[in-house]
Amino acid sequence: MTLVYEGKAKRVYSTDEDHVFRIEYKDEVTAGNGAKKDSMAGKGRLNNLITSYFFERLAQEGLESHFIKKLSDTEQLVKAVTIIPLEVVVRNYAAGSIVRRLGFDKGTQFKSPLVEFYYKEDALNDPIITDDHVKLLGIADDQDIAELKRQALIINDMLVKMMDEMNLQLIDFKIEFGKDQDGNILLADEISPDTCRIWDKDTKENFDKDVYREDTGSLIDTYTQFYNKLEAL
Ligand code: C5P
Repeated sequence: MTLVYEGKAKRVYSTDEDHVFRIEYKDEVTAGNGAKKDSMAGKGRLNNLITSYFFERLAQEGLESHFIKKLSDTEQLVKAVTIIPLEVVVRNYAAGSIVRRLGFDKGTQFKSPLVEFYYKEDALNDPIITDDHVKLLGIADDQDIAELKRQALIINDMLVKMMDEMNLQLIDFKIEFGKDQDGNILLADEISPDTCRIWDKDTKENFDKDVYREDTGSLIDTYTQFYNKLEAL
């Protein structure tokens, strides 16, 4: 097994099978592009279990991703894709960087979901970019940009419905896509409390990485509570 890629939260290995990778979720947690960093026992397991659950549910509802199956508490088998260097963010309510950048009050509901692209480039601090920048950088053409937005909004609809069943509000989330060997655009990476903002509808309590970013609670306890809610669905 060759290590193909190591990121902040995951390692990707090749397998004996062509076009199939094994992903290992790590216990490392970072915020602010690595400015804050810790290791927390059990974090990799929780994000693997939560991501596997979401990818399975999306598949059941007709949204294909790179996910093939969960291999263990901390590992998944996935289709090999070439990651498109974009962080695709969908926002239903204002929080985080859009509050700082555009001055919305935190929690303001948007009339319709907003899709944003960020250029996935650590050295540049992942800047927000326009569709024209995406094309200028040669990352995607008009057709691919439309497909990324289409899938992002479908995923948002599906996730909002699931959160609703748990009395939770999906504030925003980040997803990544890749292209398989046939050029199909597939949802990849992860969907977990690391990559979503999720609030309790009544108390507005966070079930996401903001508890770590803002030092307001235990990340492991928060993710465990969220996983228990998912399992009860
Ligand atoms: O920080 P910002 O408000 O732009 O984040 C929007 C959403 O994208 C949040 O749910 C956050 O957790 C997620 N995100 C992420 N990885 C990043 C940046 C943002 O998962 N590098």
